[in-house]
Amino acid sequence: MSDLKGKSVIISGTGSYTPPKILTNDDLSAIVDTSDEWIRTRTGIRERRIAAEEETTSDMAANAAREAIRNSGLKIEDIGLIVVGTVTPDMPFPNTACFVQKKLGLGKVPAFDIEAACSGFIYAMNVARGLMLVNNIQHALVIGAEKLSSITNWEDRTTCVLFGDGAGAVVLSLDEREDIGILNVQLGADGTETDILCVPGGGSASPYTVETIERSLHKIHMQGNQVFKHAVRVMCQSATEVVEGAGLRTEDVDLVVPHQANTRIIEALATRLNIGMERFKINLDRYGNTSAASIPIALDEAWRNGRIGSGDNVLMVAFGGGLTWAGALVRWP
Ligand code: UT7
Repeated sequence: MSDLKGKSVIISGTGSYTPPKILTNDDLSAIVDTSDEWIRTRTGIRERRIAAEEETTSDMAANAAREAIRNSGLKIEDIGLIVVGTVTPDMPFPNTACFVQKKLGLGKVPAFDIEAACSGFIYAMNVARGLMLVNNIQHALVIGAEKLSSITNWEDRTTCVLFGDGAGAVVLSLDEREDIGILNVQLGADGTETDILCVPGGGSASPYTVETIERSLHKIHMQGNQVFKHAVRVMCQSATEVVEGAGLRTEDVDLVVPHQANTRIIEALATRLNIGMERFKINLDRYGNTSAASIPIALDEAWRNGRIGSGDNVLMVAFGGGLTWAGALVRWP
């Protein structure tokens, strides 16, 4: 075990990939009883990306990963660990990270997935950070990638308008400077609410049968307004704890990159935290909710648009099925 003192873990590169096919609100209103007006005013979403039929979660993850590695200035062979956050693995097993390893042509480094729904990216980032410090791994890939279109019930207007496909990635690197990088992470879960957001079929509790498929149990089921209430409360709590735990105040936060589920959730969060909306990164209007991919896609976009500079305090906060939640305070190198 290495000496943990005097080491930090920084984000040394970001990348993202979203499939080219756009599905607009008007396109959806031709499939289910909905309207552009309802979707925009209730969620803020205008369009989302949909992966090609043959395009897998690991294809998108590998594309995002290549870009993150390029932006970090490193080479693929410098990467010593791959962790993927996803609820839509290519297969129940092997894990998606193993497919990514193969597609990148990377050596035999450890590779595994984390399943914490929309909080999956922050969970994955913290697990990778711990392994890097304990096992002295210099550079790691952390990816959030989802093909939610593969588990969306296209006949259920209460859910199908919300989700999209895509992938985002970061390269994490060990650093000697103590006051930069991932300053604090806060993770939580509430297993008493497993039924309000889930895919009930296809696992050991209810293996696939003709009946489970006919009842769409292998698709996303959500009690939207229940999830909404928890989301605002828990994201606010998580954000406050992670900022205070880093010895900072919300005034010190330069940019918030929240999970991109609903503009109304983000506005409620902004009000409660007393952080102006101009300090929030929002791109859900163009991508919808991409679960574990949403924060790293938004983070990469913010970085490419020049919204993150050296020394900036970036707050990430997420909430999802489980229920799970997570916050991270990262100071940009
Ligand atoms: O990423 C993981 C976390 N997930 C979330 O954070 C999602 C959180 N939840 C939400 O974002 C919101 O609850 C939704 C956007 C899903 C729904 O918004 P809402 O304001 O909570 O609406 P509601 O579920 O209370 O439904 C209001 C009405 C209902 O009609 P009635 O019963 O009032 O006649 C729904 O049937 O809106 C109806 N409705 C729709 N109408 C047109 C639900 N979906 C649609 C639709 N188009 N797509």
